Amino acid sequence: MKILFLCLGNICRSPLAEGILAHKMIQQGIKGKVDSAGFESYHMGDPPDPRAIGIALQHQIDISAQRVRIFHASDFDTFDRIYVMDESNMSMIRKKTRNQDDLKKVDFVMNLVYPGVNMEVPDPYYGNVELFEEAYRLLDLATDELAKHMKSHTP
Ligand code: 4NP
Repeated sequence: MKILFLCLGNICRSPLAEGILAHKMIQQGIKGKVDSAGFESYHMGDPPDPRAIGIALQHQIDISAQRVRIFHASDFDTFDRIYVMDESNMSMIRKKTRNQDDLKKVDFVMNLVYPGVNMEVPDPYYGNVELFEEAYRLLDLATDELAKHMKSHTP
């Protein structure tokens, strides 16, 4: 399975999600692909926010080599599932869908844990370290579910 995580800037939440899932895939021998992207080019080509790098490192996960990239409609062809963090991401991605098949690939990441609730992973960018801890905690839960699912789809 090929998984893409999306957030606004691709420097806080989606790089964390990518790093946590990539770590679980290696630990559990899960084959597949994981990537992340954003919608805004403010930080194009930059590494993740130092606070996101820091919270991941506390869990022995190094996300410092990731670089910001912008979502492109061709990502709908590359990826099987696309997970967004919040309502704003959802409305942006909906505008980029080309057909029903594209739309079917998209969901809120926390629906992996609480199906149908459309719970958000709050944007930590203007917050304090507690919001980064909260983002990590939520994305850890979601990627546990995703790893289980990917494992059952690994031949
Ligand atoms: P992210 O957080 O979407 O989780 O990467 C943000 C990053 C940057 C900005 C906003 C949110 N920004 O306004 O630059």
